[in-house]
Amino acid sequence: MKLTYDTIRVEKDNGVTWVIFNRPEKRNAMSPQLHFDMDDALGELAGDDETKVLIITGAGVSFSAGQDLKTYFRETANNPELRQKSQEASNRWRWRRLSQFPKPTIAMINGYCFGGAFTQVCACDIAIAADEATFGLSEVNWGVIPGGIVSWNVTEVMSYRDAIFYAMTGLPFDGKKAAEIKLVNYSVPLEKLREETLKIANLLRDKNPAALRATREAVRTVRGMTHDQAQQYLAAKLTELVAKDKDKGMQKGLSQFLDDKSYRPGFESLKN
Ligand code: COA
Repeated sequence: MKLTYDTIRVEKDNGVTWVIFNRPEKRNAMSPQLHFDMDDALGELAGDDETKVLIITGAGVSFSAGQDLKTYFRETANNPELRQKSQEASNRWRWRRLSQFPKPTIAMINGYCFGGAFTQVCACDIAIAADEATFGLSEVNWGVIPGGIVSWNVTEVMSYRDAIFYAMTGLPFDGKKAAEIKLVNYSVPLEKLREETLKIANLLRDKNPAALRATREAVRTVRGMTHDQAQQYLAAKLTELVAKDKDKGMQKGLSQFLDDKSYRPGFESLKN
C-alpha cells in the first residue's frame, strides 16, 4: 500500500501503524486533500495484515488545527462539487472509518487540537494527550457551530456541562484539563507522550485480535440499547466470537489456567 501521501505520512513499526497528519506549516489544518488522503489510507489499512494497532497524530507542534478555513471553507464556497466531495470524505474517515476500524485505534494529541479535529479524537478507542496540548471548540469564535458531527461527539464523550461550556465560550484548555473532563484517557508530559502511547499500543497489539475487536464493538454498541437488548446482543456476540476466533483464545485460556496452571492474565504488573 501507499505510505507517502501529499498531506499525511504512514509509518509501520512492528504491528503498530502511525498515521501522521503532515501539514505542520499549516498546523495540520484539514484541507480537502488531507480528507481524500486519510479516506484512502484508512480504507487500505483496515485490511492491512501488518497493522495490528493504529495511532493517529500530527507532525510538528500541532495535532490538527481543525478544518482548513481557507481551502476547506473559503475555496470551496463557489465549488459545490469539491465541497460535497470533501465533506463526504471528511465525515467518512473521521467517523465511519475510524470508529468502525477493525483494529484498536489511539489518538495521540501532541499539540493544538481545534474544532473539527475533536471528531477523530472521539472516534478513536483511546486518546492520550500531552499535558501541554491545547484543545479548543473554537467554532463560535468564527461565527459557526461545532458542525460535521462535533457537537454530537462532544456530548457523547464529555459531560453535557463541559461540552456546552467549552462550545459556547470557545475557551481553550490544556491536556491535563482534557484528562480531568475525560475527553482523553490521560495526559503525560510531551517528552513522554510517544513512549507512553507506544506502551498502550504494544499492550493492545499482543492481545487476541478477535477478542479485542468483539470487545470494542460490544462496548460501543450497547450504549444505545436497553438492558434486555444488550443482554441478548452480548450473548449472541460471544457466540459469534467463539465461533470465529481462529486462535481459539477462550479454549486456550481456560486450559492454560485450569489444567496447566500457567496463565494468570492481568496480574503481571502487580508482580513487579
Ligand atoms: N485553517 C487554515 N489555516 C490555518 C488554520 C486553519 N484552521 N490554522 C492554522 N492555519 C495556518 C495559518 O493561517 C498560518 O498560515 P500562513 O503561514 O500561510 O499565514 C499557519 O497555519 C500557521 O498558523 P499560525 O496562526 O501562524 O500558528 P501559531 O502556532 O501561532 O498558532 C493556532 C496556531 C492553531 C493556535 C492558530 O493557527 C489558530 O488559532 N488556528 C485556527 C484554529 C481553529 O480555530 N480551528 C477551527 C476552525 S472552525
